[in-house]
Amino acid sequence: MTAVITQLSQVSKGFNDGDRLHQVLNCVDLSLHRGDTIALTGPSGTGKSTLLNIIAGFEKIDSGQLQLMNQQAAQWQDSQWSQFRRAQLGIVFQQFNLLTPLNVIDNIRFVLQLNNQKWSDWGDELITQLGISDIITRPVETLSGGQQQRVAIARALIHKPALLLADEPTGNLDEAAGQQVMELMCQLTMAANTTVLMVTHSETCAGYMKRRWHLEKGHIHE
Ligand SMILES: Nc1ncnc2c1ncn2[C@@H]1O[C@H](COP(=O)(O)OP(=O)(O)O)[C@@H](O)[C@H]1O
Ligand SMILES: [Mg+2]
Repeated sequence: MTAVITQLSQVSKGFNDGDRLHQVLNCVDLSLHRGDTIALTGPSGTGKSTLLNIIAGFEKIDSGQLQLMNQQAAQWQDSQWSQFRRAQLGIVFQQFNLLTPLNVIDNIRFVLQLNNQKWSDWGDELITQLGISDIITRPVETLSGGQQQRVAIARALIHKPALLLADEPTGNLDEAAGQQVMELMCQLTMAANTTVLMVTHSETCAGYMKRRWHLEKGHIHE
């Protein structure tokens, strides 16, 4: 049996919209096993980012069960969520979300410092594969979009997280840079044994993942 990384059972989530509730997720069941790579598609505004935010602990569920790393996460305190994010999770957004006063290497090291870990061969492999070894002292705001997203991937994978959540990671990149980022992300998550859940509007990007989920009207279809 492969390990269950994330499991949602009958999860519902809505937001108050004036005086009525806008139901975004409606009794969603899903499970992510170690080694899964999943493309999450669906029309804009259907709740794809909300689902990722729930798994990352940035949004709370209204009802149902959320299991992360074999624990019931709905009951976690803030400190347990921080610990999970720091140790088990990598996140890559459409906006690169790097720490702009810092240079490339300090952005990547930041995660290791949070985890009391030292730079290892894996760090060297990441920056080499991602083609950023020559720019590690550059402030991140001086880099191109493609370069920034490669730094964001290094930062997301430096601690070999169990799970990578990627929300339209190529959304701000041109076709060629986007394809390069996808290929690197796939190779490196495989090397790190990291499970991937990626939101994308791109058929090409979805094609890089082994499975596909479609979210529409509160329900997920495989
Ligand atoms: N924090 C929030 N407060 C109120 N409404 C929200 C919030 N986050 C998302 N929504 C609403 O939930 C719906 C789904 O949003 P989102 O998850 O961002 O969709 P997607 O990522 O699929 O485009 C949208 O109608 C959005 O306006
Ligand atoms: Mg979104």
